[in-house]
Amino acid sequence: MAVIDRLDDDYLRQALEHDVRTGLTATPKWLPPKWFYDETGSALFSAITHLPEYYPTRRELEILRRHVFDIAARSRADTLVELGSGTSEKTVLLLDALAAEGTLRAYTPVDVDVVTLEAAAGRLSVRYPRLELRPVRADFEAHLALLPSLLPTPGRRMVAFLGGTIGNLPPTAREVFLKELRATLRPGDMLLLGTDLVKDVARLVAAYDDALGVTAEFNRNVLRVLNRELDADFQPDAFEHVAIYDEDNEWIEMRLRAARPMRVAISALGLAVSFDEGEEIRTEISAKFREEGVAGELTRAGFAVTSRYTDPAEDFALTLASASPTGCAPPPLTASA
Ligand code: SAH
Ligand code: AVI
Repeated sequence: MAVIDRLDDDYLRQALEHDVRTGLTATPKWLPPKWFYDETGSALFSAITHLPEYYPTRRELEILRRHVFDIAARSRADTLVELGSGTSEKTVLLLDALAAEGTLRAYTPVDVDVVTLEAAAGRLSVRYPRLELRPVRADFEAHLALLPSLLPTPGRRMVAFLGGTIGNLPPTAREVFLKELRATLRPGDMLLLGTDLVKDVARLVAAYDDALGVTAEFNRNVLRVLNRELDADFQPDAFEHVAIYDEDNEWIEMRLRAARPMRVAISALGLAVSFDEGEEIRTEISAKFREEGVAGELTRAGFAVTSRYTDPAEDFALTLASASPTGCAPPPLTASA
């Protein structure tokens, strides 16, 4: 299955170099989470989804199993686009329901990790031989504007953004992302958005700091990616995995904490980065949402909430929203002199 590749090697390389130079020379240090996902990182994420502590995937599956036919009937989409599709495992439920609805024609999974994307597309092409399958390797923060040219022109679209991945974007980036996404859609097209919900802190922290240490290895994997891609000499085991819940921002932060003072060479950038003992790199935020927050962000970006689905424990939510005819709301008026 051929992947439409929007991330040529130059783009990827420049984006990685830019992010690493910016993030590791900042105070405090940080790295964007998209660099977790090489083949090993995606496999570790898959392992995380099966851990007893990591409830989001199971809860989202439960919600989909219960409500997927309602979602399909409301959307009547013929084209499903999925951002950050990964293994597309949960998507099979949506594809089956849209097929049963009689509307399904095309599926475009979009992901940065080409290995996982190719494997998922290969499996789906066997299961759905008549589906127009167009896997796209792209960065959903940089390449949304390219999407419409890759989709069949007539018909209704539904964009699925599952797993709570939207929570990995900081609030300002989330706002930009949602507005850009709305701009690629036509009025009436739908967005199906998965969000993890605010809950008991101990459960949240356990989900990001599991007993087997799989999440710790997922976190350290970003250092292995930097070692391989940028000829760096990080010693991943010299960094401790940290997961804390920030109650003010209502998000989990994953960090890597230097166990001792060290100096790391990132040869491809001609950069040396020093760490004090205990100094941290922030590697991910994972925002937890409330119903009114999701609705507000969607409305400001030009979507109208159609329906909201949760599990009985209200651990996770799926929100179905349609692209409003008027697009995104104008910024609030400011008083002029
Ligand atoms: N949707 C799946 C996978 C979630 S893991 C699920 O719900 O289980 C997050 C996925 O998003 C990974 O497959 C990762 O490779 C992808 N991803 C992360 N940042 C991305 C970006 N900026 N652009 C495209 N894909 C991205
Ligand atoms: C992909 N994303 C929604 C996951 C999350 O829960 O924020 C990534 C992850 N990080 C640690 N565990 C899982």
